[in-house]
Amino acid sequence: MALLHNLAFSTFLLSIIVLSIIFLNLINKRRSFSKNPKNLPPSPPKLPFIGNLHQFGSLVHQSFYLLSLKYGPIMLLQLGEVPWLIVSSSDMASAIMRTHDNIFASRPSTVVTDILRFEDIAFEPYGEDWRQLKKIFTTHLMSFKMVGSYKTVREAEINSLIRKISNHASLSNGGSIELRSLFFSFMTSLICRVVCGKFVLEEGRYHTFREVVEENFRLASRFSIGDLFPSISWMEALIGLSRRANRNREKWDRLLDEVIEAHLQSEKSDGFQEISFVDMLLSLRNDATINVELTADRIKGLLADAFAAGIDTTYITLDWTMSELLKNPKEMKKLQEEVRGIIKHNNMVTSEDLTKMDYLRAIIKETLRLHPPLPLLLPRESMEECEINGFTIPKGTKVIINAWAIGREAKSWESPEEFMPERFINSQVDYKGNNFDLIPFGAGRRICPGIAFAMATSELVLANLVHKFDWELPEGMTTDEFDMSESPGLSVQRKDSLRLVVKHVL
Ligand code: HEM
Repeated sequence: MALLHNLAFSTFLLSIIVLSIIFLNLINKRRSFSKNPKNLPPSPPKLPFIGNLHQFGSLVHQSFYLLSLKYGPIMLLQLGEVPWLIVSSSDMASAIMRTHDNIFASRPSTVVTDILRFEDIAFEPYGEDWRQLKKIFTTHLMSFKMVGSYKTVREAEINSLIRKISNHASLSNGGSIELRSLFFSFMTSLICRVVCGKFVLEEGRYHTFREVVEENFRLASRFSIGDLFPSISWMEALIGLSRRANRNREKWDRLLDEVIEAHLQSEKSDGFQEISFVDMLLSLRNDATINVELTADRIKGLLADAFAAGIDTTYITLDWTMSELLKNPKEMKKLQEEVRGIIKHNNMVTSEDLTKMDYLRAIIKETLRLHPPLPLLLPRESMEECEINGFTIPKGTKVIINAWAIGREAKSWESPEEFMPERFINSQVDYKGNNFDLIPFGAGRRICPGIAFAMATSELVLANLVHKFDWELPEGMTTDEFDMSESPGLSVQRKDSLRLVVKHVL
């Protein structure tokens, strides 16, 4: 009976959704015909109601790439009721993020991010508040000096990672180890310590952080009914995604309140060595050079940004880089020769040693070219109408830049599908937003402020892993069988887990 009742309710709900969409589509069509500017970018043919939604699969960046081969480097796709501009070449990315960066520096809101976010940087629309918060993040939390000052914490966490792998190598006697979960724990722990200092070390709060961060990513990876069909966004409440987002937001709120409260209590008192983000932000509240009031909500926004933007992106970079090295043993050997040539004996590689390791940097660049952890960056929204490549881009257009496709553009990259780190030796191309062929961190005003931190961390982890250990694919697996397929999500990682055989060398 209950089942029948549920079925009847679901059918009723579905009928309402379909009828509402048909009705609102008819009205919208009438309105938009009269308003449409003439010269919009090309679009693939659409279906009624769903637009172009049927033309892509779960790996959205790959579907966009295939469509761009046919419809060009800027195309307009209709995702449900909403038009999105998809950008797939370095020239067009430069037009958006350099020539017209002042127009495209805003972010669209989505149902889930509107619930999850505090007053932050990553999802804040462009404006004075965003400018001031980003300045604080860049000059106070992620400055060259601050990234250097996190060196001790970073090296301590890497030591602990190496110890775990060493113990495993000694005990398992040639058995395999799952590296991805170790990378994830390492990054969560590192970010927790950098952001909250000793707070996380007490009472095992680390696991609570881990839970909310994981749930945040799961939620942010999903399009909701309200994003695709804004005219029926009221149905969101029936589906449950916003309820889940609200629950996670409450957890975040409580946790970050506790972090701030604990730091306020212990201000100036305990002589703990690490200066965390929270300490820094609390000390800036009375700083006359700060032009924005650092309210609790803004402090929470800045802290949450570091968790949400820093953990997944960096551990996924480590995961892809180790995968490419296992898939390409010659490159692994060359990297080990470089690192072991510089670091003698059983020493740990330190941050100072990294400057001499050109091949290591080339390996990471090549990995980010082929596997940008956020293949579609973060979405942008235009604040005025403008013209790009002869096409009119209306005000309020939502924009996706396909960094994954740009990393494969034949005009910029020889044999784009091949892993060839040598292409970056003696090359000026870098990922800092000056060269639009390689934009894993975005570019322009919205560029990632965590580049230095992410790179200092990734380089040091990788150098130590290849210095201390030899790595092999699991027994019986050939490099051809090692599958590099991707799994769907806002951040894209390898589909399979990273299980490898580790041998102790030093
Ligand atoms: C390999 C690691 C990382 C990658 C690939 C990455 C990538 C990105 C990308 C693509 C964007 C959007 C840029 C745009 O719209 O043009 C972004 C924004 C951002 N990232 Fe990162 N990121 C990484 C690490 C980090 C770290 C470690 C932090 C801080 C702890 C961080 C903090 C942020 C913040 C706050 C934003 C928002 C900037 C804004 O909207 O103005 N990221 N990141």
